[in-house]
Amino acid sequence: MISLEEVRSRLELAGQSHLLRFWPELSADERDSFLGELSQLEPEELREHCRAAAEAGSRDSGAVGLLDQRMEPMSAEFIGSVSRSDQETLKQWEDEGFRQISQNKVAVLLLAGGQGTRLGVPYPKGMYNVGLPSGKTLYQVQAERIRRAEQLAAEKCGSSKCTIPWYIMTSEFTLEPTEKFFKENQYFKLDQSNVVMFEQRMIPAVSFDGKAILENKSKVAMAPDGNGGLYRALVDGIFEDMERRGVQYIHVYCVDNILVKMADPLFIGFCVSKGADCGAKVVEKAYPTEPVGVVCRVDGAHQVVEYSEISLETAEKRNTDGSLVFNAGNICNHFFTLSFLKSVAEKFEPKLKQHVALKKVPYVDEEGNLVKPDKPNGIKMEKFVFDVFQFSKNFVAFEVSRADEFSPLKNADPAAKDTPATARRALLAQHYRWALGAGASFLDGENRKLPEKPSLSENEEPPAVCEISPLVSCFGEGLGVLMRGREIHSPFILDEKKAEEIRKSQ
Ligand code: UTP
Repeated sequence: MISLEEVRSRLELAGQSHLLRFWPELSADERDSFLGELSQLEPEELREHCRAAAEAGSRDSGAVGLLDQRMEPMSAEFIGSVSRSDQETLKQWEDEGFRQISQNKVAVLLLAGGQGTRLGVPYPKGMYNVGLPSGKTLYQVQAERIRRAEQLAAEKCGSSKCTIPWYIMTSEFTLEPTEKFFKENQYFKLDQSNVVMFEQRMIPAVSFDGKAILENKSKVAMAPDGNGGLYRALVDGIFEDMERRGVQYIHVYCVDNILVKMADPLFIGFCVSKGADCGAKVVEKAYPTEPVGVVCRVDGAHQVVEYSEISLETAEKRNTDGSLVFNAGNICNHFFTLSFLKSVAEKFEPKLKQHVALKKVPYVDEEGNLVKPDKPNGIKMEKFVFDVFQFSKNFVAFEVSRADEFSPLKNADPAAKDTPATARRALLAQHYRWALGAGASFLDGENRKLPEKPSLSENEEPPAVCEISPLVSCFGEGLGVLMRGREIHSPFILDEKKAEEIRKSQ
């Protein structure tokens, strides 16, 4: 470890000597761990980070530059759509995706380094159980979808076994508990060697006068560097791992979308067929002022434009068919080729925009008292995963159905939106639709037929409770043979055991 003197002079160089203010009061253990932490901070980088944060923080955060004049929608030739494509085309894309998966060229990459402050649980979001009848957590649902997608690809393409490696980006907050949780659950029956966890960087939170904030006397307040921290984190051994396995295509997604289709063969197949190096799934915006970013072009380059960067007039603009002109809502679900990711990491990462968030950061004041501020006192800087679209040579978007693919868990109940209740409802509504589509009908406890509602509004509970294990069906496939003509008592869990019983009874 480097000496105190060396750390002191590095901090001086960075203009951050105040971090050692309480050094004389620290115990031997505290000194050891603090010195370790401080020695990680590279002086030039720290100086620049604090300077840039203070400068960004001093700009009026309310005054966002509007991009209206520079924006145009994506051209239709680069947008694929599930609802507007014929069955034959969809099948071709799906077959292509399965072919790539069966050749072990496809990996999934989970962004799970966030702190989940809005949900407010003291453990990683992936460990959250939204209250499904099976009690499965988000991590378990995702693991089982991977197992099923591997199995389907092997069956469809006649290979004996195929592997979809699962890369999980964690942060200082989430790595340890995530590893522990996976171990305790035997990696949900995935081969442990195919689950690769890695850590994103943490960077100091900075006060408005450009000083790194002390969280307590021997700890700098650190925060993960945003999900765009991915591009720096991949360089530490993950690219090598992908190359060693022969991975060429990477499906990146967020931990909190309960409906995520893992290694979605349709999306992969579409992107590969179009020769894309980078792609994004999008959903139609629900209403003009919905707070989601839209995928469009700015000065000719593809970009996600935040809702705060568009005027109401532009957000409300409509095409002659009534659809919104800026309609492609970003759902943080991306396709990348390995070579594109490498080019970003090598050449473009330093150019990625720094997004600024003003936060309430607990700190220790000059007298050594711990303070919980009641208004923002700190600046956190984050990079976003989608800010790389501009560097793509062949960018495509793929429009999917929101009801089938997007229900993020952001807030605690009883918030109105994106809660455990809405996530649970979205998944159960989808499984209910799959069951009806497969020809099942539902009965209540007294054998009375329940009403059938194939199209439910977003806030409507399905009339029957039906949960289908991803190990039985992860894309809605193969349910006809298990459900056609069957009258099923609600609540119903179709797991592997139940599916086997039904097959045997036929
Ligand atoms: P969000 O921006 O919604 O953040 O992350 P969050 O941490 O889940 O929740 P809040 O804002 O603190 O309430 C979107 C996705 O990006 C990941 C998250 O884990 C989630 O999958 N993420 C976010 C990272 O991987 N790293 C980060 O630094 C930030």
